[in-house]
This record gives sequence, structure tokens and C-alpha cells, in this order.
Amino acid sequence: MLISGNHYQSIKYVPRSQDGYGQHVIILDQRCLPFQVKFEKLYSSEDVIQAISEMHLRGAPLIGITAAFGVVFACSEAIKSQEASVIKEQAKKIISARPTAVNTENLINYIMQKISKVDTLEKKEKTALHLAKKLIEEDIEACRMIGKHGLDIIRTISETKAGPVNILTHCNAGWLACVDYGTATSPIYLANKEGIKIHVWVDETRPRNQGSRLTVWELTENGINNTLITDNAGGYLMQKGMVDLVLVGSDRTTITGNVANKIGTYLKALAAKDNNIPFWVALPGTTFDNDSDLKPEKIKIEERSSNEVSHVEGLIDNQIRSVLISCDKVVCSNPSFDITPSRLVTGLITERGLCKASKQSILKLFPEKITQKYDNEK
Ligand code: MRU
Repeated sequence: MLISGNHYQSIKYVPRSQDGYGQHVIILDQRCLPFQVKFEKLYSSEDVIQAISEMHLRGAPLIGITAAFGVVFACSEAIKSQEASVIKEQAKKIISARPTAVNTENLINYIMQKISKVDTLEKKEKTALHLAKKLIEEDIEACRMIGKHGLDIIRTISETKAGPVNILTHCNAGWLACVDYGTATSPIYLANKEGIKIHVWVDETRPRNQGSRLTVWELTENGINNTLITDNAGGYLMQKGMVDLVLVGSDRTTITGNVANKIGTYLKALAAKDNNIPFWVALPGTTFDNDSDLKPEKIKIEERSSNEVSHVEGLIDNQIRSVLISCDKVVCSNPSFDITPSRLVTGLITERGLCKASKQSILKLFPEKITQKYDNEK
């Protein structure tokens, strides 16, 4: 998508060069947005772990792809140290860096299974790299298709009204969270391209403010009309008939259609249900949990630092600074995700089409999920 009119993707692989630079990935450092556009190079599996856990990058699909490159780097570290065990150790650490986003676990397990079938460390690295590069292309295509399928929902609503289609979104499920297009934003970008009038209500998404800092920025850069609201405003807007559709992403969705996403998503789903407003979740197949018996209460919800709640970051004197917004001895709790039960979800928008948030409907589109267990230990 666009930054200042130029096309960018959120991650780029750069191979080993003759002049001594090691292979690396270039990411957009999301901690600096919207104030500065800064790129960062990740060279090692430890760089990847740090970037994921400290949220230099975030969003389930992008975390999963960057994690896959973390395995590539771990393979080359294993070659240097001649210690094959490094790969498994680092893979485990990468998975636990952001535990709720299931894409990481899915993609790492997939790569680990594939590289277990080749013998030398060099072949493992080559195989992991081939797969990681392919994941970038697959994610772009999945998001593009999510856009196509989700467009039908927006178009149908637009045909019933004169003004713009008002869409409420939470967190950032945009191209910044994927490689390109985004999940929840992909239908929005496509609808806008088709000339459908769109207006997006953007939840600020405390505590990290992915809405005000990332979603507002990327929508604005890409010419989408949007308005920032506080996290508490959505219910009121829904009661006033000012929201036609709620569209969010997901970090992990069970095969039975329960949706883990950024904290606060559940409250929006409840308000949408009470006001008869469709609540759709956009996600690629890599965001389904492969455990078909998973009970929603078993999903590990990441608890992040209390600092994110007691402080808020912004621009002061042209510098990104953090300020205390409570008592200095405040006790905080910071669960980062919540689970929206399938009964509150109108449907899922996937790269293979639309489906209900039910096991039967999901497995009709993704029949392989019923048997998708990986043979390497987690
Ligand atoms: O903590 P974050 O910013 O990684 O959380 C991201 C979200 O909750 C997104 O909505 C989700 O990953 C979907 S991204 C396409």
C-alpha cells in the first residue's frame, strides 16, 4: 500500500551480499508511526524475537511471516555454530514472543516439519528460506482475495443507502499488520477503488493505540475517509445508526468460530449484536487454530507490561515520549486480547470466501484443518 504516494510492503527479504552484509529482512518500525517512517533491519533470530516481543512489528500475519524468517536465521546460526539444536530452541522462543497470535505457531510448525525432512543444516536453511519467501507471496494473495470477498458485503450495504458506508474497526488489521492490503482493510481499499463511498470509524485501541497511531495513518495515506473515536464511543454511534458494519481482524480463531482479537473487540461485538449491526471478521487461513478441539478458554491471552496502561506515548518537542497518566504507584492489568464468542460473529471473510463462524462452515472452506496436526513436538 501507499506511503506518501509510493508503494511499500511491510517486510522485505534481502539476501546475503558479496560485500559482507548478512541476509536480513527490512521491516517498518511501527513504534515510530505515525510520527516517523523508519525502517529496521533484522539479521538474527534474536533480532526477530526482540522485534516481535517489543512490537517493532505486530499483527498476527506479519508476526507469523517474520517468525518464519527467524527460523531461517536460526538455521544459519546453527550452521555457524554447528549446533543443530539451535533451530528448535530459537523456534520455541519465537513462538512464545507473542503467544496469542497463532500464525506464528502455525507457520513455524509448518517450516519445522518441512526442514525435518532434509538432512544437512545447509539444506534446512535453503528449505526454510524458500518457504519463508513463499509465505510473503501467499499472504499478499490471501489478503487480496479477502478484499474481493469482503467487497460484496460492503457493496450490498452501499446499495441500500445514499450516504457513505460507515464501517467501525478496532486495532490495526491493515497492511501494516500483514504484508500488503491488510485483512479488515482489504475490502475497504477495494471498495474505495470501486468508487463506493466509505467512511471508517477508527477505535483508538488503548493501550498501544494501534487505531490512532497505525490505522488512521494507513487509511489516510491511502485516501480513505476516516474519523478517530475513543474506544468507548462505538456503542453510542451504533445506537445512533451511525455504523453500518463492524469489520475487524483476528489473532487466532478456533475451528468452531470463536475469535481472539485485540482487547475490546468483544465489547464491540456485544454492542453490534444489540443494535442489529453485522459484525464480520476478516482473516487468512493461517489464523485458524489447527487444534479442532480447542476450547476458547484454553487460548493463551498475552498479558503485557503494566507500563502500557499507566503511560501513554506521543510526540513532545518532536520526540516520541511516554508520559504517566495515573498515580505513580498505580497497579495495572493489561490483558492484550479477548475472545468474541462465535454467536456474536455474523461471519468470517477468508481468502476462500465467506463463511459462518461455525465448525461446519469453516471446515467446508478449509477441509484440511481437520487433520492438520504437525508431527514435530511443540
Ligand atoms: O497486539 P497487536 O497489535 O499485534 O494486535 C493486532 C490485532 O489484534 C489485529 O487486529 C490482528 O492481529 C489482526 S491483523 C490482520
